[in-house]
Amino acid sequence: MQSIRVTGGNPLSGTVTVGGAKNSGLKLMAAALLAPGVTTIHNMPDIADVDTMSEVIGGLGAPVRRDEHSLVIDATTVDSFEAPYEIVAKMRASIIVLGPLLGRLGRARVAMPGGCNIGSRKIDLHLRGLSQLGVQIASEHGYIEATAPHGMRGASIALDFPSVGATENLLMAGAAAWGTTVIENAAREPEIQDLIAFLNAMGARIEGAGTSTITIEGVSAFSPVTHGVVGDRIEAGTFLVAAALCGGPVTVAGVKPEHLDLVLAKLTAAGAEISTGPDEVTLQRGGPIRPVDAATLPYPGFPTDMQPQFMTLMAVANGTSVITENVFESRFMFADELGRMGADITIEGHRALVRGAARLSGAPVISPDLRGGAALVLAGLAAEGATTVGDIHHIMRGYESFVDKLAGLGADIALIDSDEGEGRGC
Ligand code: EPZ
Repeated sequence: MQSIRVTGGNPLSGTVTVGGAKNSGLKLMAAALLAPGVTTIHNMPDIADVDTMSEVIGGLGAPVRRDEHSLVIDATTVDSFEAPYEIVAKMRASIIVLGPLLGRLGRARVAMPGGCNIGSRKIDLHLRGLSQLGVQIASEHGYIEATAPHGMRGASIALDFPSVGATENLLMAGAAAWGTTVIENAAREPEIQDLIAFLNAMGARIEGAGTSTITIEGVSAFSPVTHGVVGDRIEAGTFLVAAALCGGPVTVAGVKPEHLDLVLAKLTAAGAEISTGPDEVTLQRGGPIRPVDAATLPYPGFPTDMQPQFMTLMAVANGTSVITENVFESRFMFADELGRMGADITIEGHRALVRGAARLSGAPVISPDLRGGAALVLAGLAAEGATTVGDIHHIMRGYESFVDKLAGLGADIALIDSDEGEGRGC
């Protein structure tokens, strides 16, 4: 096993380029199943989750070939409708093949994804919406059996919560249903907008991208496409917090600043100076880190995937802040690890009271999940002494060349061999 060892105190400066968004690329791979033929997706990050999704798609009969940061998916023949337990357990996002399999084959058998370290990760909204499209849903022996032997019929679906995954599955199923589907209270994330652009390029007829009401006119056939994945706003935000912790100036390229509006507003309130270009953000901080409250919400609210990184910044602010996690029910696990480094954080339900410490001190910590692990590495950048972060497979699932990119900005950081056991991903 490997760990990340980081020695704090180095200022960071320079330019880092982010890759395509993990949380879009994985869904585009699934959507490619709808179109018989060869689809090419550029700007796809080289991360473990993409390898896992390639395994899922390949197992359904659509082989995936990587050519650097491009994937070539041959979905000419999709001859299986089952996503097996051992793969779904590795990556719960595999559930996103439900919609395209129903659109292509009229059938899907996907292992129940289960929960993970940040929450129960329910899929009731996915299943209720698919039922409204006429899909018969059964669950047995840990699998979801979904069938639409006579095809799916458009429906008006109101989501209790703007779930990203539910919106995506219903987009892909609705695109192949007979008639019109309307999704109310749909998710508005940039990754959803990227998926809609991809589906429309394939021949779908979807309007309302980026709004809460999406209207889909079903079509009977899709064509393969070539598409570039939207830049990863969360990877970008992670490096911007690193710059805010260590000073900068750091330029993060490959991201649309408008996809980070609230994150940039919070970093500015915390004392960062920010300038933007069409596809980049530059951040530097000379003065103290000011305490700023934040509450996570679905897009365009403050992203839950930036909550651990922002809490790390607040852990060394010159005052007290309150961070509220409204999206997942247990996304504060990493705060205990941050406490081992001297952070003063009190958790009360969905709220964390963060009393800024003058400085954190390096310590051995364990990554509980993807973003919590990245946040612990950021903490190590600013801590006094050395920090070793274990269970880094969580981090490698979602960040390509994370250590190299931080080293390129001047961090004293390296991968080291260790004997840590594996935790459970999400
Ligand atoms: C996606 O997860 C992302 N993952 C998450 O990123 C991200 O945090 C999340 O969206 C919110 O932005 C991928 O895209 C692979 P949700 P998803 O459905 O689709 C509840 C990361 O770090 N819910 O919007 O699973 C659910 O329990 C990961 O990159 C239901 O109750 O998110 C959760 O509390 C972590 N029933 C909330 O909604 C449902 O049917 C948000 O879930 C579906 C969801």
